[in-house]
Amino acid sequence: MPGIAVIGAQWGDEGKGKISHLLSEGVDLVVRFNGGPNAGHTVVDSYGEIRLHHLPAGALREGTVGVLAHGMVIDPWVLREELQEVEKQGRPVPKLLISDRAHVILPHHKEMEVGSGIAKSIGTTRRGIGPAYADKALRLGIRFADLADQDVARERLSRLEGAHRNPYRPPMDPERVVQELFEFYAAFKDTIGDSIRTITAALAEGRNVLFEGAQGTLLDIDLGTYPYVTSSHTTVHGIASGAGISPKKVERIIGVLKAYTTRVGEGPFPTEDVGQLGELLRRKGMEYGATTGRPRRCGWLDLVALRYAQRVNDFTELAVTKLDVLSGLPEILVCTAYRIGNERVEEFPSSLMDLSHARPIYERLPGWKEDVRGIRVKEELPRAARDYLRYIEEALGVPVRLISVGPKPEETIFC
Ligand code: IMP
Repeated sequence: MPGIAVIGAQWGDEGKGKISHLLSEGVDLVVRFNGGPNAGHTVVDSYGEIRLHHLPAGALREGTVGVLAHGMVIDPWVLREELQEVEKQGRPVPKLLISDRAHVILPHHKEMEVGSGIAKSIGTTRRGIGPAYADKALRLGIRFADLADQDVARERLSRLEGAHRNPYRPPMDPERVVQELFEFYAAFKDTIGDSIRTITAALAEGRNVLFEGAQGTLLDIDLGTYPYVTSSHTTVHGIASGAGISPKKVERIIGVLKAYTTRVGEGPFPTEDVGQLGELLRRKGMEYGATTGRPRRCGWLDLVALRYAQRVNDFTELAVTKLDVLSGLPEILVCTAYRIGNERVEEFPSSLMDLSHARPIYERLPGWKEDVRGIRVKEELPRAARDYLRYIEEALGVPVRLISVGPKPEETIFC
């Protein structure tokens, strides 16, 4: 019985929310294993549209438990608001399990992100993600398990406050923070527990578990375009450590990619188009950040980056999203290699400098005029669209099993 992974193959915003929600029918657990409220997973269903930040998109299905595993950093204040939003839309309250090993995002983490300048230089989401993971690495962080004992929580918080004391910043008020955290703990006590036991037991019993990645491969702290990355493990590798399971348990690894490329925030992006095409993709694809509302940078598909994503994740299948956005373009360009200086480069560079100087070498493929949103069978897609998909499959050596032609669940082609 498979553990299924849904992993972003680009710089995030590939449409993982829709894919995870679609694939979670009949799934017992849907697990977020990395990141925190920097994610913005959009789901459109019979209740309307919702953007989820902590909650796995798959957890909106009745009968499915949403697990926030210990690889995440969790902001209790934001999580509460998110659950209120779910209720406001008249949706059933999702069944949740919050890992007691997960670290808490505290108010000072957001202040540190802005105060330290990384919010600006990296273009982060200002959700306190980096500083919360930094405190975890410094062994100063507070885990949900620590909130069970008020004396322990107080002691840890005052140690944290001491470590971050800064004469130029008003001190955090540990007592106010601790009181609010205890309130959260009291309200959510039954939801907080050992998610490793739950996930490993479910897998051992052959039940369905879906691992919903947040952000994308190129934003991974180790494998991405460092330092223009997030602070967690966004690839398939994050699942084992972030959910506490053996890597052998993940049998299907679904790489989600947009039919073109987007990036939000700073950092190199070789196929970025700052002219008319970029504007058209942004407008047609409604490319604005789900968490911050920032306009996303847009450009053609980058196969150099995708071959790298394939290499590190070893996807077993692909889900291509937003194919409909490309309808009407006379031709489609695909970046197959970079020109760096005088050299033709086919491997994704690790050097930020090289990547910043990389100029895309494009192959030109025919476009198609037809609107594809109403199409439900692959064979009915225009020939040029099928050829484009085949081109991607051959370049990456992986079959496309799902094609998304619109935001609604029914606007999907399973192959
Ligand atoms: P952070 O995760 O807020 O620290 O932001 C680090 C970088 O990752 C910035 O460039 C963000 O724009 C980007 N990022 C973080 N979360 C997402 C996401 O869910 N989608 C796309 N980009 C993201």
